[in-house]
Amino acid sequence: MYYNEDIVEEVRVRNDIVDIISGYVSLKKKGASYFGLCPFHNEKSPSFSVSRDKQMYYCFGCGAGGNVFTFIMEYENFTFPETLKMLAERAGMELPEAELSKEEKRASDYKTMLREMNRQAANYFYLLLHSERGKNAYDYLTDRGITKETIKKFGLGYADIYSDDLYQYLKSKGYTDSQLKDSGLVTIDEKRGGSDKFWNRVMFPILDVNSKVIGFGGRVMGDGNPKYLNSKETAVFDKSRNLFGLHIARTSRKPYFIVCEGYMDVISMHQAGFINTVASLGTAFTPFHGTLLKRYTKEVILSYDSDEAGTKAALRAIPILKESGLVVRVLNLKPYKDPDEFIKALGAEALEERIKEAISSFMFEIAVLKQQYNENDPESWTMFAHELAKKLSTISERLERQNYIEACARTYHMGVKDLEELVNRYGMTMYRTKEQGENEREKKSEKEKKDDGYRQSQRLLLTWMVNEPRLFEQLKGIISADDFIEPSYHSVAKMLFEEYEQEHKVTPAKILNQFTEVEEHNQVAVIFNTTLKMAPSPEDNEKALTDVVRRVKEYHINYDMEHSNDIGMWQKLIKEKAELQKLYVSLHFS
Ligand code: CTP
Ligand code: MN
Repeated sequence: MYYNEDIVEEVRVRNDIVDIISGYVSLKKKGASYFGLCPFHNEKSPSFSVSRDKQMYYCFGCGAGGNVFTFIMEYENFTFPETLKMLAERAGMELPEAELSKEEKRASDYKTMLREMNRQAANYFYLLLHSERGKNAYDYLTDRGITKETIKKFGLGYADIYSDDLYQYLKSKGYTDSQLKDSGLVTIDEKRGGSDKFWNRVMFPILDVNSKVIGFGGRVMGDGNPKYLNSKETAVFDKSRNLFGLHIARTSRKPYFIVCEGYMDVISMHQAGFINTVASLGTAFTPFHGTLLKRYTKEVILSYDSDEAGTKAALRAIPILKESGLVVRVLNLKPYKDPDEFIKALGAEALEERIKEAISSFMFEIAVLKQQYNENDPESWTMFAHELAKKLSTISERLERQNYIEACARTYHMGVKDLEELVNRYGMTMYRTKEQGENEREKKSEKEKKDDGYRQSQRLLLTWMVNEPRLFEQLKGIISADDFIEPSYHSVAKMLFEEYEQEHKVTPAKILNQFTEVEEHNQVAVIFNTTLKMAPSPEDNEKALTDVVRRVKEYHINYDMEHSNDIGMWQKLIKEKAELQKLYVSLHFS
């Protein structure tokens, strides 16, 4: 754990969940809870509930849930430390320094220093741009249609024609040559001393997701080579893990992100209102970029240059993005080269239309394939049909495959039946092996299904215990935290048992403090927010509960048997199992 538990808990207690969520969602009181429209999925009638007693929220529609930390992490896309900081500030608390090891602290300080130096440099470039020396650069930007506000928002700047003024400036701020060298902003020559990497360029600061400057792209004004020069990679600047514009895009709360190729594209898009736009940093798309995007969105619209290089880049990016689990569509910008030029020519509304028309990545790949063939030449067109069928046959889900067959038949004026037949011919072997695989999976899943049942019992029992804490007394000697085999339930159970032992109560929202990932919070929130459907008679309730307790015990015993070779142990376990039948849990409800 990064922070001391007591502090985390104090921050939580000082931020009432109903107050916090009311700032984002309009809530109405209904019984013991508050209800509103869930901000995490689209809905028309409220299934999002917030409980002041439990200090937790839960959506019965999509299963999002957790405590006040979860909500801020999910809504603001913050990490746990960012969330903690924000809520601490809101409550007027001062957070002590995070507890790091010496080595961690040194590395972290060093990175902080590099980021700070980059920030100072950005400041310097920004001031230059607004000075007499930066007049040409300022004109260059405004001539390209960038407004004063946009310049400010992106902190654009200018590196002037002197070869060492940034070096001197940073020296004057107290940085040593060795620190300066590591920043990538200057080169140090033994004889000639320091000189700036960027000169006479318009500067685009590159910010990380936490809005810290980590590097720069610099563009020549007019023609010249290279058109863009980028900071080299440093301890804080990793091109494969950062995206230009992400610090803003992540707050956009749009259902999709737009990914384009260049800095200028991102800037024009944001200026036109598409603040959900990002670009990679002059390098190809990497799996890290894919995972990074997946944290913030489910769908990506590729808006790469409409030339050959852009198409190639899109074809390379598609599988990477899909691998990360993102839905990918592709925008057609023709006859314009890139989003920047498109917006300048036709405006934001026209682009909005194009976004609506963006085609799926599959149809895009097919459209590119088609370019190699000639519709008017029967031989060439037949070859295309074969290639198309081959690709269609790789879609494993039947319904999806059928839909694409129909869409392609429509788009390329082919008979659905003809195309289908061809697809089946290519698919035969593939489907067969696939089906075999599915059968095997079904067989295996019998055991998995059983495991799921047991897992459910563990969850249900925890829900019972949270709803009826006196069960901790009732089940003493029968159930302990170790009976919860499922790792995530085990840790929750352990905390609940410990808290009950010490304080004779349980505080679900506090237990969530131990988890730092939104997914974990959602999982645990289900336990705490399930309302038990009580049977009309106490006897039926007792029977149901007894059943759950038995199943949890039984699973624990089975688990121990599977993991032991000791005959004596086995005998003991078998006896325990038999005794389970005699178990009865009384609720004493009256
Ligand atoms: N790029 C680069 N180095 C170059 C050329 C391009 O790093 N020599 C990167 C930059 O990140 C740039 C992106 O590739 O933003 C796209 O390049 P390009 O399409 O040539 O530039 P545009 O974004 O269209 O820029 P502009 O409109 O200013 O010409
Ligand atoms: Mn351009």
